[in-house]
Amino acid sequence: MPKHLVSINDLSKASIEKIFDLADDIDEKLKNHQTIDLCRDKIMATMFYEPSTRTRMSFESAMYRLGGKVISSADTKATSSAAKGESLIDTIKVIQHYADVVILRHFNDGSAKLASENSLVPIISGGDGSHEHPTQTLCDLYTLRREKGKIKGLNIALCGDLRYGRTVHSLVYGLAKFGATIFTVAPDDFALPEHVERRLKSEYGTEVKKFKKFDEQLSAKDVIFMKNLKKGKAVKDDVIEENLFQPIPIEYFDAIYVTRIQMERIEGTKSRHESLMSYLVNKELLEKAKNDTIVLHPLPRRSELSYDIDKDKRAAYFKQAAYGVPVRMALIAILLGVTEDKIKMTFDKSKDCILDEKCSNHNCITQEQENVQHKFIKVEDVENTYRCFYCDSEKIVQN
Ligand code: CP
Repeated sequence: MPKHLVSINDLSKASIEKIFDLADDIDEKLKNHQTIDLCRDKIMATMFYEPSTRTRMSFESAMYRLGGKVISSADTKATSSAAKGESLIDTIKVIQHYADVVILRHFNDGSAKLASENSLVPIISGGDGSHEHPTQTLCDLYTLRREKGKIKGLNIALCGDLRYGRTVHSLVYGLAKFGATIFTVAPDDFALPEHVERRLKSEYGTEVKKFKKFDEQLSAKDVIFMKNLKKGKAVKDDVIEENLFQPIPIEYFDAIYVTRIQMERIEGTKSRHESLMSYLVNKELLEKAKNDTIVLHPLPRRSELSYDIDKDKRAAYFKQAAYGVPVRMALIAILLGVTEDKIKMTFDKSKDCILDEKCSNHNCITQEQENVQHKFIKVEDVENTYRCFYCDSEKIVQN
């Protein structure tokens, strides 16, 4: 059975750590100009139905640096037979005989999962619609580990477009696996999808702390929560003072993760975009942050991240993009089984799914492709609620 990576939930914390340990070794070797030829006889196909700079090129660089070869389709939608109407399933069934591993970026949520079901070789998601971007999360977590020395116990603010941004939909689970505390800073329109919050709570026992703006006034309860984070004490030990309000304490954050509004995924973006301007991360904001708070961004950026902080030592987003090479080298080598390092993958099993309901997410791959069986997994502890096997959107089904 090939090992696919379509969701960060496919990887345990131990597996992620194994990838990171190998990435550390590889990075050291790259710095010393040592040859790494673990994939000498391997071919990687990159199939990108959506634009990319970092994901595609760092994967390709990674494969070349492993001594392997690459066949690249940088604009698959326009230049492959997809333009003639070929389905994703048919395309994968063909490509699997041309390459040993496929990196897929696709505009539909759940496309990577569907591809993995139809492939004899590993499928690695390079981002599927608004759903997930698991290898970006590996880069994000690895940057935290390298720059902060640990992930457990860090206070991380995720800000911007958390509804449509696929990177945060993977990152929250990754942070939860490692025991970081997650704060979200986003207006209601751009809040984390409910199903993501629910899964965080039910599978990871993690609740996010939500704010609408950086300068939002905290309620008494929030202030106590912050105090407790600082002291590492339980909330119940504190007496909540009535009418106590304070601005959101930016100095509590160990990392600020900024995201771009996903203009390409939403309609009527202009006014909504304006509502996000209060999230601007700039010099003025960083002046209030700690000396060792780092700023992360999956990039590309627009107006939400000011160029005026690029020279600040706390700006870590270009390092984050650079770490993409050793991290992806390690991932490819492990999934192809060319190293001693073995990892266990934890796929959802489709045998417990119900089959006769349509997914309610209009961007789900099951809406797009013919001959795909709709499948759902029962959400534990939530009555009549089922999760799409492909895109993870939830649906209420009356029995
Ligand atoms: N972070 C990221 O996915 O960038 P690209 O879209 O350039 O690949």
